[in-house]
Amino acid sequence: MAELEELKYLTGFGNEFASEALPDALPVGQNSPQKCPYGLYAEQLSGSAFTAPPECNYRSWLYRIRPSVVHKPFEKIPQGNLTHSWDECDPNPNQMRWKPFEIPANGSKIDFTQGLHTICGAGDPRTRHGVAVHVFCCDISMKDKCMYNSDGDFLIVPQKGSLVITTEMGKMEVEPNEICVIQQGIKFSVEISEPSRGYILEVFDAHFVLPHRGPIGANGLANPRDFLTPVAWFEDRDVSSGFTVISKFQGKLFKAIQGHSPFDVVAWHGNYAPYKYNLSCFNVINTVSFDHCDPSIFTVLTCPSLKPGVAIADFVIFPPRWSVAENTFRPPYYHRNCMSEFMGLIYGKYEAKEEGFAPGGGSLHSMMTPHGPDKDCFEKASNAQLRPQRVADGTMAFMFESSLSMAITKWGNETCLKVDHDYYKVWEPLEKHFNPNWKPDEEKKAS
Ligand SMILES: [Fe+2]
Repeated sequence: MAELEELKYLTGFGNEFASEALPDALPVGQNSPQKCPYGLYAEQLSGSAFTAPPECNYRSWLYRIRPSVVHKPFEKIPQGNLTHSWDECDPNPNQMRWKPFEIPANGSKIDFTQGLHTICGAGDPRTRHGVAVHVFCCDISMKDKCMYNSDGDFLIVPQKGSLVITTEMGKMEVEPNEICVIQQGIKFSVEISEPSRGYILEVFDAHFVLPHRGPIGANGLANPRDFLTPVAWFEDRDVSSGFTVISKFQGKLFKAIQGHSPFDVVAWHGNYAPYKYNLSCFNVINTVSFDHCDPSIFTVLTCPSLKPGVAIADFVIFPPRWSVAENTFRPPYYHRNCMSEFMGLIYGKYEAKEEGFAPGGGSLHSMMTPHGPDKDCFEKASNAQLRPQRVADGTMAFMFESSLSMAITKWGNETCLKVDHDYYKVWEPLEKHFNPNWKPDEEKKAS
């Protein structure tokens, strides 16, 4: 593992950062000097069309020992259960729940790239429109190996084990209850210190941004100052046995060998850089009068579509907070949604289902498939005294919510062997309470 105490970060979201690992490595006053300091090469990494408007124009300049183009040709490699083939199985509208996904036992020697499994998704990276939900389960670090995603951005949610992620812009440690985003094209390598597991939301369309806060104002939800971007870090290291660069390209994996470490960026500047965020920094906004707000109030990051207010995918959390609503059924209500909802649990017990939804597992409530609290939750919430109450202490559940109708892969439906086929039974005990003779006055008298 890296020397963690050395890790430093730049703060802010989408800032125009500048970072150098050697003094004066960044040219001053111009982007493309005839000769760069220290004999470095200048390379631009574009994360948006050159002509994108300023608010969504992303690029960084990397000053590196060798340009990225110095590598042998790409060759296709096996990709395990990583797929963007959405027609492997017939469509499945059922409520789905998965028991915790299997972490390889010590000795399996599965690294992050080999341990990627796709659960569900939609769309096509070739047309830059779509979404995929993966889990990663690994038991070794990537050695002399890195990956980059040509297809879109990864939002990584570690669930078990800390990740030390070396990127071209520097190193970051990402622990459970933190998330990170590694954008399209940025090379990264994942080191672990124990068998590890986590979730990944991949988007093909655009980059993640903070949601519009509207009337909430300038503060609240995920505040920009809590996002951390690594500082420049480099190694000048030849690798005679070959350094493997893996590209995820059009949903397939390819490798190219080169004779040196790609983490040779001595300095960089720009607004296209990976970042991490600690979920405990989220400033929860919730009702303090009555009724249950939509879960959009818990949106950390969103990848917008071209339709106003409609996300390709939202990353939403259900953090510890106070519940104070009056005259209100407080847990999430029964629901049918024109969006797809994939949920995961980092730790603890989710408030709407205290059993069966375990850390490291997941659930999917697909487009217009009904879902909601189980019987116990309904009964408790219907009869609870409505005094201020802490909710979700010791718990962090999250949702990847997409406007696309996601298909479940063969691995998600069958091969993972983690499907809870009894999930539908949690709603079967819900009883009929209907009383056609009910009178509002009598209820008032009774209370
Ligand atoms: Fe829902």
